[in-house]
Amino acid sequence: MLFDLTGKVSIVTGASKGIGRSIAVGLADAGSHIVLCSRTKSELEAVAEEVRQRGVEALVIPCDVSNPEDIQHVADETVNRFQQIDVLINNAGITVKKNAADYELEDWNKVISVNLTGVFLFAQAVGQYMIKQKNGSIINISSIAGETALKGSIAYCASKGGVNMLTKGLAVEWAKHGIRVNGIAPAYIETPLVKAITEVRRDYAEKVEARTPLKRLGAPDEIVGAAIYLASEASSYTTGETIKVDGGWTALGL
Ligand code: NAI
Repeated sequence: MLFDLTGKVSIVTGASKGIGRSIAVGLADAGSHIVLCSRTKSELEAVAEEVRQRGVEALVIPCDVSNPEDIQHVADETVNRFQQIDVLINNAGITVKKNAADYELEDWNKVISVNLTGVFLFAQAVGQYMIKQKNGSIINISSIAGETALKGSIAYCASKGGVNMLTKGLAVEWAKHGIRVNGIAPAYIETPLVKAITEVRRDYAEKVEARTPLKRLGAPDEIVGAAIYLASEASSYTTGETIKVDGGWTALGL
């Protein structure tokens, strides 16, 4: 079956909540075993339970994606346990909101190290195994901020623009190894983090809704379809592509 992931092994970073949690559970629904990583073990255990309820295995490995040793550990432990890595979802991401003129070097480095360097190092660590296997699918979670500027988010925008080019660069370099590299670029998705803002600042939510052609924010589960498509054989001729899941945000000119 085109969208079937039975027997596959998928690593999801930032899997404890939000979009990462939804993708982890969604890929499990499609039949994949899931390796869950983010920094806090207790939060991951709750998602692991949801994954196991789908009849697949869940492996929890705490990991800070700004730490290269943690990343290598996740790749090695996944292969020790499952002997393969079929899918990597590079989802962990953060932002620091400040005017560009007030941005400290520390803020910049923090965002770039998680959102861009972490994505590259994870792809590299997992890629070493995928090159030997001669197949794999890497999916980088980007953002509309990778191609449209959001005020007060200079490092976030730069990191996501970088992720889009990283996706293309790796896709071109690793196609010969049977590895496909793609991205997903969401607009505003009501994850716990975004909800914390929109519930307090209703005016902000209304502004986003008005600017979005579909007239609402997205839900984390609405990212899952694109992830399953890109992870599965359904997308066997797609590489170097970043799919927008943005309610029409980037289609709108005025
Ligand atoms: P969230 O804050 O709800 O979840 C982020 C996840 O990443 C959490 O599990 C967190 O523990 C993990 N994480 C953060 N720093 C980490 C680190 N150093 N090492 C390991 N894990 C770390 O965020 P959300 O909203 O679910 O975002 C997920 C991805 O989607 C991010 O890459 C974000 O940029 C992207 N995105 C989100 C949008 C939204 O509106 N929520 C819109 C566009 C893109």
